[in-house]
Amino acid sequence: MAGINAAIVVVLLATAVGTFANDPDMLQDVCVADQTSDILVNGFPCKNMTKVTAEDFFFTGISKSGDTDNLLGSKVTGANVLNIPGLNTLGVSMARVDFAPYGLNPPHIHPRATEMIYVLKGELFVGFITTSNKFISKVVKTGEVFIFPKGLAHFQKNVSKKPTSVLAAFNSQLPGAQQFAAALFTSSPAVPNDVLAQAFNVDEHKIEMIREALN
Ligand code: GLV
Ligand code: MN
Repeated sequence: MAGINAAIVVVLLATAVGTFANDPDMLQDVCVADQTSDILVNGFPCKNMTKVTAEDFFFTGISKSGDTDNLLGSKVTGANVLNIPGLNTLGVSMARVDFAPYGLNPPHIHPRATEMIYVLKGELFVGFITTSNKFISKVVKTGEVFIFPKGLAHFQKNVSKKPTSVLAAFNSQLPGAQQFAAALFTSSPAVPNDVLAQAFNVDEHKIEMIREALN
């Protein structure tokens, strides 16, 4: 019963977010992504309608917990246009985030979407930071919802010793995600040490230490 309620709430969330979609509006009923095409457009070109099937609108990838056995103790599994071609031009997507005990989904932004999370189970400390550096944070629990406005830095941390999961809804078919630590310290080619040392007001040795810890 709890599972059904969760599913209903998430569908409502996804629909509500879609109402304020920022992705361009569609000009036809469906435009199932043809990911094999060489044509470059904003999004993906449409697959021939005669080849469209229910499978293009179906995905089982977030039915189970993702593998959280990693440095951060979290795993994001996207349910977006890259694995559901039928989402192309529809302006919505979802993700499931699983957390090991005390696991962290580290500070990141979504350049193309606002995010709403629905806590499937557990207890998380979540927050975002505005462009005037106000930190908005809260502990959220099973069945509760929290919003991360488009483009603002945010994170979620499991604050319990039990595994935790959330479902996230986005108003973009492909919200994109950029993690700050990874972007600054693991990019290729690397951001020069002197740039980071000056930005963080530390010596270059400390930058090198962080780089090594993340690589
Ligand atoms: C959570 O913040 C996510 O981006 O999936
Ligand atoms: Mn996010």
